Amino acid sequence: MELAAGIEVRVVSGGESARLMDFLHEHYYREEPLTLGTDPPQPDAADEAFLLSNIPHGTCLVALLGDRIVGAVVAGPKTADEAAHLFEDAERLKGTKWGRILSILAVAERDANVCARFDVERALHAHALGVDVSMRGRRIGARLMTELAALARRLKYPLLTVDCTSIYSARLVQQLGYELVNTIRYDSHKDSSGQPVIKPPAPHESLQTYALRL
Ligand code: ACO
Repeated sequence: MELAAGIEVRVVSGGESARLMDFLHEHYYREEPLTLGTDPPQPDAADEAFLLSNIPHGTCLVALLGDRIVGAVVAGPKTADEAAHLFEDAERLKGTKWGRILSILAVAERDANVCARFDVERALHAHALGVDVSMRGRRIGARLMTELAALARRLKYPLLTVDCTSIYSARLVQQLGYELVNTIRYDSHKDSSGQPVIKPPAPHESLQTYALRL
């Protein structure tokens, strides 16, 4: 498929929350495996609020074709205590969709242990990556991740990390030279009654954490 020409990538501004969320509803949440693999189908308000809370850091990017958003990546800073915060939030929100999602993100963060593993005090973490359904396969996701790495370098982050919940995002960052740090198979992450917490459709089988030294 041909690469998308005339795409501009820029930082999301404070006044663009509603527009960004509309895009994420249409082109991210509907297919993102953790969202698909937990009930109910629509994202929790707490999940949406968390993503939007990253905008003030100046580390969220949109890809634009003219005025139209055709891709977005939501990213924010984290430090060594991130896993502890995620376990606390998962416990507090137990029984909700976002609580179930946080339970696997907490395990991913603990096991990847990126700050200790890469000997850094902080990292930029990409929380959500989405491309317009009609524009897939044109490397827009790769362009967003490349521009995010450049932005992170300018902001002096030593490391960029991402939990790839989708087989497509995992392939994409592999091609960009990210290092695979940890894999959690969805069927191995179980609740207290032994049932898998997240049941995404094929071909998604695992959450893979990747890192790029900057
Ligand atoms: N379904 C089927 N095929 C796909 C999909 C998809 N969802 N996404 C990409 N592909 C294919 C492309 O057609 C292309 O195939 P080709 O090499 O045969 O041409 C190949 O995968 C590579 O595509 P890219 O151009 O690298 O990726 P793209 O920019 O299209 O977008 C993305 C990838 C962002 C993951 C997209 O699939 C998406 O928005 N998915 C929905 C939300 C999601 O799951 N996001 C990732 C979750 S992890 C995270 O957010 C950190």
